[in-house]
Amino acid sequence: MPRLDDRLKLVASLIRGTNHADIGSDHGHLLAALLATGRIQRGIAVENKPQPHRNSTATLQGLNAEVRLGDGLNVIQENELDSLSICGMGGQSIVRILANHSNRLPDQMILQPNKAIGSVRQWALNNGYWLVDEQCTAGTRRFEVLLLRRSGMALDPVYRRLASVRLEESLGVMFGPWFLLRRDEDLQQRLAEEQRYLHAKQKLTAPSRQRMEAIDRLLSHDHFLSR
Ligand SMILES: C[S@@+](CC[C@H](N)C(=O)[O-])C[C@H]1O[C@@H](n2cnc3c(N)ncnc32)[C@H](O)[C@@H]1O
Repeated sequence: MPRLDDRLKLVASLIRGTNHADIGSDHGHLLAALLATGRIQRGIAVENKPQPHRNSTATLQGLNAEVRLGDGLNVIQENELDSLSICGMGGQSIVRILANHSNRLPDQMILQPNKAIGSVRQWALNNGYWLVDEQCTAGTRRFEVLLLRRSGMALDPVYRRLASVRLEESLGVMFGPWFLLRRDEDLQQRLAEEQRYLHAKQKLTAPSRQRMEAIDRLLSHDHFLSR
């Protein structure tokens, strides 16, 4: 069985399903580990490029898995999955894949965006998925993993909990509502560093200014000061 790095180990620990698809499977290691440990019964690897498709095919040979060449959920049927993962891509790409075929999405999704993570949280809020957990890797590079469950259109309870400590929804979307509720120390340290960096800059673009203001609001908020 291929060894997973800490990022994919964390992803794997959040997955349990019968029919699970990994979109952008590349080397195919995640599905191989999920099948070997019995966390899923059947795997579908999806790749849109030939070499990663060949890599996945080689890794998954002899396992209860299929490897499909195509763009995201184009090659998945409606009701075929109960779970899916998309890891190691930018948040905008993940959202595009999800939004292209919203009728083919399963009830459970495990998403690991490398950047623009807020766009994935915002998509979930707007599209009837609750963020039931979020976790991050320890170590120098922080990878965040989001666990989503289909819920209907009621407001996600985690944002209600955030409102009860007077933290705005937009801060939750940007930085992660569970991380904020847990007063994630690693996040606070990283944001304090980013705050110093942004304040030291002579000129800021509009998005950087907005982010700096959000960090300022967050780091001076009672919820954090009351540690
Ligand atoms: C950076 S790799 C991440 C691989 C693996 N998921 C991981 O986290 O280690 C992203 C992979 O997604 C594939 N990919 C990107 N967009 C895709 C799409 N729309 N449909 C299927 N595969 C895609 C790329 O070819 C590449 O192999």
